[in-house]
Amino acid sequence: MKKPLLATLLGERQPTPPVWLMRQAGRYLPEYRALRAEKGGFLALVNDSPAAAEVTIQPIRRFGFDGAILFSDILMVPSALGQDLTFGVGEGPALTPPLLDHALQGLQAAPQRLEPVYETVRQVTAALPAQTTFLGFAGSPWTVATYMVAGHGSRDQGETRRFAYGDPAAFEEIIAAIATCTIDYLSKQIEAGVEAVQLFDSWAGSLSPAQFERWVIAPNAAIVSALHDRHPGVPVIGFPKGAGEKLPAYVRETGVDAVGLDETIDPEWAAASLPKDLPVQGNLDPLVLIAGGAAMEQAAARILAAFADRPHVFNLGHGILQDTPIAHVEQLLAFVRSAG
Ligand code: CP3
Repeated sequence: MKKPLLATLLGERQPTPPVWLMRQAGRYLPEYRALRAEKGGFLALVNDSPAAAEVTIQPIRRFGFDGAILFSDILMVPSALGQDLTFGVGEGPALTPPLLDHALQGLQAAPQRLEPVYETVRQVTAALPAQTTFLGFAGSPWTVATYMVAGHGSRDQGETRRFAYGDPAAFEEIIAAIATCTIDYLSKQIEAGVEAVQLFDSWAGSLSPAQFERWVIAPNAAIVSALHDRHPGVPVIGFPKGAGEKLPAYVRETGVDAVGLDETIDPEWAAASLPKDLPVQGNLDPLVLIAGGAAMEQAAARILAAFADRPHVFNLGHGILQDTPIAHVEQLLAFVRSAG
């Protein structure tokens, strides 16, 4: 039997779209919160392979999603490049030292920090139900660089955008180092058992068009091309959040096999503007999932209708939020699955 999510990503439309949700393993699940408390925090969980495998599988067990996404974080790559990664309680991530002072050369690479992730992949691969597709992921270089340069998350990525304009040669080196590490990281995830990979470019929307070409499209194209060479037939999903009208160029120039759409994209515009056989993923607003009820079903129906005649993976436009009621996730799954 073919796995419905994997088949869709390879271009075969399914009568009923497969479903998974970004951040489906996480704080909205009581079983996740319990295990995180027991292990002493998010990073401890990520680095404990049996626990991370368990967290990856929790949403599959509870909801029967078509895809399981590896439980890890995009900031594991900066950690492998030699920055120290911490998550303070109730705070975002911190990376030290920040690269604002051109400190890339001062970093001591630590690729061994990724070993627990590959072990998690092997354990999940051995345990998943036969119809579930296993997705690996990494951050895209621009998005990862915004954390590496500033040392923390930020509202408009201003420090990193200034850096990229002020010293494009130094920034190019940072982007290239991230891209090289990411190719190796995703290749090893694939060798350990993931069947498709997603590139998260959460901050792609903060760049002007020329900067988008240089820092989003070019490095993602290099990653996609290297992965296609090394692992032919393994689909790559690009998720350039906030790319808006730049999506058709992103798709054409990066060579991604499928594209994730955020909730600001009109599904009818996407259906008309993207190549007609291209698998698309998305794009329910995570906030309408919190609202639930008829509003959610109307929004989901609009997405299903727009993508009815192409390969479509149902998903949110961004990650599920922690105050999402579990009953609404169940309602969404029942609705999408009865839509075929
Ligand atoms: O999708 C999944 O379920 C797989 C796991 C996953 C996590 N982070 C787990 C996580 C994935 C794919 C990510 C991606 C990620 N991480 C992105 C890109 C996607 C996006 O959401 O925009 C980014 C920018 C990060 C960096 C990051 N990780 C931040 C800024 C934070 C803190 C803010 C927050 O949402 O808590 C994290 C922490 C994080 N990563 C959590 C989880 C489940 C929450 C940690 C906790 O349990 O307290």
